[in-house]
Amino acid sequence: MRVAIYPGSFDPVTNGHLDIITRGLHLFDEVRVLIAHNNRKRGLFSVEERMDLVRASTQNARVSVDAFNGLLVEYARQIGAKVVLRGLRAVADFEYEFQMANMNRHLHSGIETIFMATGTSNFYVSSSLVREVASLGGDISQLVPKPVLTALREKYSAAPEE
Ligand code: COA
Repeated sequence: MRVAIYPGSFDPVTNGHLDIITRGLHLFDEVRVLIAHNNRKRGLFSVEERMDLVRASTQNARVSVDAFNGLLVEYARQIGAKVVLRGLRAVADFEYEFQMANMNRHLHSGIETIFMATGTSNFYVSSSLVREVASLGGDISQLVPKPVLTALREKYSAAPEE
């Protein structure tokens, strides 16, 4: 079984992430979407909500979803995976991704990071921009899967007026 871990915050999952997952399935038997902890970010959706949204948006037996609070390499060791899948949107992503890939390899010499170029229709999309546009009533229907669109509408219609 060739398993790739696709880690990220996924707050929430977007069509850009789904593009990477779908293309990852051409190369791997299983893509394990991992809601990993980034201590520089505060979340809108809870980890459980993010997992549910990934499940509802993928619905493929070869896509699994998990969450982990520790080091990514520890998780990889635990499940015996050797590949981390990441999407690269623009040059700006490169430095950070290069650092993370090398730090992960320093921590676990058996791990390899595979980068996929994000599709041209999604290279400008990020979860935080999607949240911002949705919170201000902008149209994000082309950028996120249906379950996420519904969840964002519910979140922001439930939010108290400022
Ligand atoms: N399409 C659209 N958007 C994309 C995308 C794609 N293909 N790929 C990434 N993005 C966006 C994400 O939505 C996210 O947007 P945001 O910043 O507005 O939230 C941004 O690009 C990058 O985020 P993400 O892929 O979620 O990575 P991250 O930087 O939040 O998280 C982790 C990085 C979680 C993988 C990293 O912190 C980690 O491994 N944590 C575990 C702890 C650990 O091991 N730390 C040491 C790491 S060396």
